[in-house]
Amino acid sequence: MAYLKKALLQAHELAEKIVRPGDAVIDATMGNGHDTLFMADLVGEAGRVYAFDIQESAVAKTRERIEKAGFTSRCHLIHDGHQNMDLYVKEPVKLIIYNLGYLPGGDHNIGTRAETTIAAVEKSLSLISNDGLVIIVIYHGGDSGFEERDALLSYLISLDCKKYSVMKTDFINQINCPPILIAIEKNLKD
Ligand SMILES: C[S@@+](CC[C@H](N)C(=O)[O-])C[C@H]1O[C@@H](n2cnc3c(N)ncnc32)[C@H](O)[C@@H]1O
Repeated sequence: MAYLKKALLQAHELAEKIVRPGDAVIDATMGNGHDTLFMADLVGEAGRVYAFDIQESAVAKTRERIEKAGFTSRCHLIHDGHQNMDLYVKEPVKLIIYNLGYLPGGDHNIGTRAETTIAAVEKSLSLISNDGLVIIVIYHGGDSGFEERDALLSYLISLDCKKYSVMKTDFINQINCPPILIAIEKNLKD
Protein backbone atom coordinates (compact mmCIF):
# COMPACT_ATOMS: atom_id res chain seq x y z
CA MET A 1 0.00 0.00 0.00
CA ALA A 2 1.47 3.34 -1.02
CA TYR A 3 0.13 6.30 0.92
CA LEU A 4 1.94 8.80 -1.30
CA LYS A 5 0.10 8.77 -4.59
CA LYS A 6 1.39 9.88 -7.98
CA ALA A 7 0.40 13.37 -9.15
CA LEU A 8 -2.43 12.25 -11.44
CA LEU A 9 -4.00 10.07 -8.75
CA GLN A 10 -3.77 12.94 -6.26
CA ALA A 11 -5.45 15.15 -8.86
CA HIS A 12 -8.30 12.65 -9.21
CA GLU A 13 -8.72 12.40 -5.44
CA LEU A 14 -9.03 16.19 -5.20
CA ALA A 15 -11.53 16.16 -8.08
CA GLU A 16 -13.65 13.51 -6.35
CA LYS A 17 -13.74 15.68 -3.23
CA ILE A 18 -14.97 18.85 -4.90
CA VAL A 19 -17.03 17.96 -7.98
CA ARG A 20 -20.76 17.38 -7.46
CA PRO A 21 -23.43 16.08 -9.85
CA GLY A 22 -24.65 18.92 -12.05
CA ASP A 23 -21.34 20.86 -11.99
CA ALA A 24 -19.63 22.27 -15.07
CA VAL A 25 -15.91 21.42 -15.40
CA ILE A 26 -13.10 21.73 -17.96
CA ASP A 27 -10.60 19.16 -19.16
CA ALA A 28 -8.01 21.53 -20.65
CA THR A 29 -5.97 18.75 -22.29
CA MET A 30 -8.24 16.03 -23.66
CA GLY A 31 -5.54 13.69 -25.05
CA ASN A 32 -6.80 10.13 -25.07
CA GLY A 33 -9.85 11.13 -23.06
CA HIS A 34 -9.13 9.40 -19.75
CA ASP A 35 -9.64 12.57 -17.71
CA THR A 36 -12.66 13.62 -19.79
CA LEU A 37 -14.29 10.28 -19.04
CA PHE A 38 -13.39 10.51 -15.35
CA MET A 39 -14.86 14.02 -15.09
CA ALA A 40 -17.97 13.13 -17.09
CA ASP A 41 -18.68 10.39 -14.58
CA LEU A 42 -18.29 12.84 -11.65
CA VAL A 43 -20.60 15.56 -13.04
CA GLY A 44 -23.36 13.07 -13.84
CA GLU A 45 -26.20 13.42 -16.30
CA ALA A 46 -27.01 17.00 -15.35
CA GLY A 47 -23.39 18.19 -15.55
CA ARG A 48 -21.16 19.44 -18.35
CA VAL A 49 -17.56 18.72 -19.32
CA TYR A 50 -15.86 21.10 -21.74
CA ALA A 51 -12.78 19.35 -23.13
CA PHE A 52 -10.07 20.92 -25.34
CA ASP A 53 -7.32 19.61 -27.58
CA ILE A 54 -5.49 20.94 -30.62
CA GLN A 55 -5.18 17.46 -32.18
CA GLU A 56 -8.07 16.04 -34.17
CA SER A 57 -6.89 12.51 -33.30
CA ALA A 58 -7.28 13.28 -29.58
CA VAL A 59 -10.82 14.55 -30.11
CA ALA A 60 -11.70 11.42 -32.15
CA LYS A 61 -10.28 9.04 -29.52
CA THR A 62 -12.07 10.85 -26.73
CA ARG A 63 -15.36 10.91 -28.66
CA GLU A 64 -15.14 7.15 -29.05
CA ARG A 65 -14.41 6.68 -25.36
CA ILE A 66 -17.27 8.83 -24.08
CA GLU A 67 -19.73 7.38 -26.61
CA LYS A 68 -18.94 3.90 -25.32
CA ALA A 69 -19.63 5.07 -21.76
CA GLY A 70 -22.90 6.76 -22.78
CA PHE A 71 -21.66 10.22 -21.73
CA THR A 72 -21.91 12.01 -25.09
CA SER A 73 -24.66 14.44 -24.16
CA ARG A 74 -22.81 15.82 -21.13
CA CYS A 75 -19.49 16.40 -22.98
CA HIS A 76 -18.54 19.26 -25.29
CA LEU A 77 -15.41 18.17 -27.17
CA ILE A 78 -13.70 21.24 -28.60
CA HIS A 79 -11.00 21.03 -31.25
CA ASP A 80 -9.16 24.19 -30.23
CA GLY A 81 -6.43 25.32 -27.85
CA HIS A 82 -7.23 25.78 -24.17
CA GLN A 83 -5.95 29.35 -24.44
CA ASN A 84 -9.28 30.06 -26.20
CA MET A 85 -11.46 28.47 -23.51
CA ASP A 86 -13.24 31.73 -22.76
CA LEU A 87 -14.73 31.70 -26.28
CA TYR A 88 -16.58 28.47 -25.54
CA VAL A 89 -17.25 28.40 -21.80
CA LYS A 90 -19.75 31.00 -20.66
CA GLU A 91 -20.47 29.76 -17.13
CA PRO A 92 -18.44 29.38 -13.93
CA VAL A 93 -16.79 25.98 -13.60
CA LYS A 94 -15.99 23.97 -10.48
CA LEU A 95 -12.80 22.33 -11.71
CA ILE A 96 -10.27 22.74 -14.49
CA ILE A 97 -7.69 19.99 -15.00
CA TYR A 98 -4.51 20.31 -17.07
CA ASN A 99 -2.45 17.27 -17.88
CA LEU A 100 0.51 18.91 -19.60
CA GLY A 101 2.97 17.39 -22.04
CA TYR A 102 2.40 15.34 -25.18
CA LEU A 103 -0.21 12.78 -26.18
CA PRO A 104 0.92 9.32 -25.03
CA GLY A 105 1.40 7.21 -28.16
CA GLY A 106 1.29 10.34 -30.32
CA ASP A 107 3.73 12.89 -31.70
CA HIS A 108 6.05 14.01 -28.89
CA ASN A 109 6.57 17.33 -30.67
CA ILE A 110 2.93 18.38 -30.27
CA GLY A 111 3.03 19.01 -26.55
CA THR A 112 1.69 21.87 -24.48
CA ARG A 113 3.74 25.08 -24.58
CA ALA A 114 4.58 27.65 -21.90
CA GLU A 115 3.01 30.64 -23.64
CA THR A 116 -0.36 29.06 -24.41
CA THR A 117 -0.49 27.20 -21.08
CA ILE A 118 0.06 30.39 -19.11
CA ALA A 119 -2.53 32.26 -21.21
CA ALA A 120 -5.01 29.44 -20.51
CA VAL A 121 -4.27 29.30 -16.77
CA GLU A 122 -4.84 33.04 -16.58
CA LYS A 123 -8.27 32.58 -18.18
CA SER A 124 -8.96 29.62 -15.90
CA LEU A 125 -8.65 31.87 -12.87
CA SER A 126 -11.53 33.97 -14.21
CA LEU A 127 -13.64 30.96 -15.11
CA ILE A 128 -13.53 28.96 -11.87
CA SER A 129 -16.29 29.51 -9.37
CA ASN A 130 -15.43 30.88 -5.92
CA ASP A 131 -15.41 27.32 -4.57
CA GLY A 132 -13.59 25.96 -7.62
CA LEU A 133 -10.11 24.57 -8.19
CA VAL A 134 -7.54 24.57 -10.99
CA ILE A 135 -5.36 21.46 -11.04
CA ILE A 136 -2.24 21.19 -13.18
CA VAL A 137 -0.15 18.06 -13.59
CA ILE A 138 3.21 19.17 -14.98
CA TYR A 139 5.26 16.63 -16.90
CA HIS A 140 8.88 17.68 -17.28
CA GLY A 141 12.20 16.28 -18.40
CA GLY A 142 12.60 13.89 -21.33
CA ASP A 143 10.86 15.09 -24.49
CA SER A 144 8.86 17.64 -22.47
CA GLY A 145 11.98 19.50 -21.37
CA PHE A 146 11.95 22.10 -18.61
CA GLU A 147 10.97 25.33 -20.34
CA GLU A 148 7.23 25.03 -19.79
CA ARG A 149 7.65 23.93 -16.17
CA ASP A 150 10.00 26.80 -15.34
CA ALA A 151 7.91 29.48 -17.06
CA LEU A 152 4.68 28.20 -15.51
CA LEU A 153 6.15 28.02 -12.00
CA SER A 154 7.51 31.58 -12.35
CA TYR A 155 4.04 32.74 -13.38
CA LEU A 156 2.32 30.87 -10.54
CA ILE A 157 4.74 32.18 -7.91
CA SER A 158 3.87 35.71 -9.05
CA LEU A 159 0.11 35.32 -8.39
CA ASP A 160 -1.22 37.68 -5.73
CA CYS A 161 -1.30 35.73 -2.44
CA LYS A 162 -4.25 37.80 -1.26
CA LYS A 163 -6.31 36.49 -4.17
CA TYR A 164 -5.05 32.94 -4.69
CA SER A 165 -3.48 30.02 -2.85
CA VAL A 166 -1.18 27.95 -5.02
CA MET A 167 0.03 24.55 -3.80
CA LYS A 168 2.86 22.54 -5.36
CA THR A 169 3.48 18.89 -4.51
CA ASP A 170 6.37 16.86 -5.82
CA PHE A 171 8.63 13.94 -4.97
CA ILE A 172 12.12 15.20 -4.22
CA ASN A 173 14.19 12.02 -4.16
CA GLN A 174 13.13 10.21 -7.33
CA ILE A 175 14.80 9.74 -10.68
CA ASN A 176 13.18 10.41 -14.07
CA CYS A 177 11.42 13.65 -13.08
CA PRO A 178 8.06 12.44 -11.70
CA PRO A 179 5.22 14.84 -12.55
CA ILE A 180 4.49 17.82 -10.30
CA LEU A 181 1.01 18.55 -8.96
CA ILE A 182 -0.25 22.14 -8.77
CA ALA A 183 -3.58 23.18 -7.25
CA ILE A 184 -4.91 26.76 -7.24
CA GLU A 185 -7.89 28.09 -5.34
CA LYS A 186 -9.31 31.55 -4.76
CA ASN A 187 -8.93 33.16 -1.36
CA LEU A 188 -12.31 34.53 -0.39
CA LYS A 189 -12.78 37.47 1.92
CA ASP A 190 -14.84 36.60 5.01
C1 LIG B 1 -0.52 14.58 -21.65
S1 LIG B 1 -1.69 14.75 -22.94
C2 LIG B 1 -3.22 14.75 -22.09
C3 LIG B 1 -3.65 13.38 -21.61
C4 LIG B 1 -5.12 13.31 -21.33
N1 LIG B 1 -5.54 14.11 -20.20
C5 LIG B 1 -5.62 11.89 -21.17
O1 LIG B 1 -6.39 11.62 -20.24
O2 LIG B 1 -5.29 11.05 -22.01
C6 LIG B 1 -1.54 16.45 -23.39
C7 LIG B 1 -2.47 16.88 -24.51
O3 LIG B 1 -2.45 18.31 -24.60
C8 LIG B 1 -2.72 18.63 -25.93
N2 LIG B 1 -2.41 20.05 -26.17
C9 LIG B 1 -1.23 20.61 -26.52
N3 LIG B 1 -1.37 21.95 -26.63
C10 LIG B 1 -2.67 22.22 -26.34
C11 LIG B 1 -3.43 23.43 -26.27
N4 LIG B 1 -2.89 24.62 -26.54
N5 LIG B 1 -4.73 23.32 -25.95
C12 LIG B 1 -5.31 22.12 -25.68
N6 LIG B 1 -4.64 20.95 -25.73
C13 LIG B 1 -3.33 21.02 -26.04
C14 LIG B 1 -1.89 17.66 -26.72
O4 LIG B 1 -2.38 17.57 -28.04
C15 LIG B 1 -2.08 16.37 -25.90
O5 LIG B 1 -3.11 15.60 -26.43
